[in-house]
Amino acid sequence: MSPSPQEQAQTERFASSYERHQSPVMHRVERRVWGCDYGGTSWTTRDEADRIAGLLELRPGLRILDLGSGSGWPALYWAAATGCDAVLTDLPLTGLRIAAARAASDRPPGNCWFSVADGTALPFADDSFEAISHSDVLCCLSDKAGALQSCARVLGPNGRMVFSVIYIAPNLSGAAYDRAEDAGPPCVEAEADYPTLLNRTGWRIAGQIDVTENFAETIRRLIREEEHESEAMAVLFGEMALAERWAGHRLKLAALEDGLLRREIFNVDRG
Ligand SMILES: C[S@@+](CC[C@H](N)C(=O)[O-])C[C@H]1O[C@@H](n2cnc3c(N)ncnc32)[C@H](O)[C@@H]1O
Repeated sequence: MSPSPQEQAQTERFASSYERHQSPVMHRVERRVWGCDYGGTSWTTRDEADRIAGLLELRPGLRILDLGSGSGWPALYWAAATGCDAVLTDLPLTGLRIAAARAASDRPPGNCWFSVADGTALPFADDSFEAISHSDVLCCLSDKAGALQSCARVLGPNGRMVFSVIYIAPNLSGAAYDRAEDAGPPCVEAEADYPTLLNRTGWRIAGQIDVTENFAETIRRLIREEEHESEAMAVLFGEMALAERWAGHRLKLAALEDGLLRREIFNVDRG
């Protein structure tokens, strides 16, 4: 499936974000809110990254695919913290270049490779990985089943995939559904709920962790820290774009507090 104009525009927006997120003020905010400074764009905090590393049993010699890895979060962190080998893939080259530079300066014990690749058509042989992860990526692409099938093909038979995703709360309709869609990531709408999608694409669910409240708390902290850095933030974004950004944070938080959006970590295998 070729990317929609909406997805192409999103790839360009992500590319700009990865550049902007390397600025000192964004690194300061990211360290205080997420506990890391890779210039990430997902809502995966360091605590969550540690939890996912545990579920995937990351260790030296194990090779993980981080799909939609942006500028290296969390794959480079895992390569440094656990010594695993990591393959980072994404669509915008900008983020991968930043990630490659970071890997060259950090020199993690694990090997790291970088590849521009569409997650729905991964350019790897069958059974290439022992672990796969993606952070809030399925809610940024429309062909969710295609991405899940592609992941199933490249994961080895005893492998495991752990991923986070933001989705619209079940049983919403009308204005509530529209609010959730507006507040969520561009492809937050899914053709079916995630357990159904996973089942259809050959995955077995071993566990689900509801991280909706962590997500809301991360946004609250983000609002506080960005307001604390308002002068530097205004220089970086410009007054108008910053006002829009903050309105977006508040829209998301209100949708979460009203139960319209959820975020979950799925721990799955091929059964
Ligand atoms: C929320 S960001 C997460 C980035 C990074 N892993 C992080 O945690 O900061 C989602 C990423 O998914 C990528 N993405 C969207 N559609 C994709 C596709 N079809 N194939 C691969 N990556 C895709 C975007 O380019 C973006 O970098």
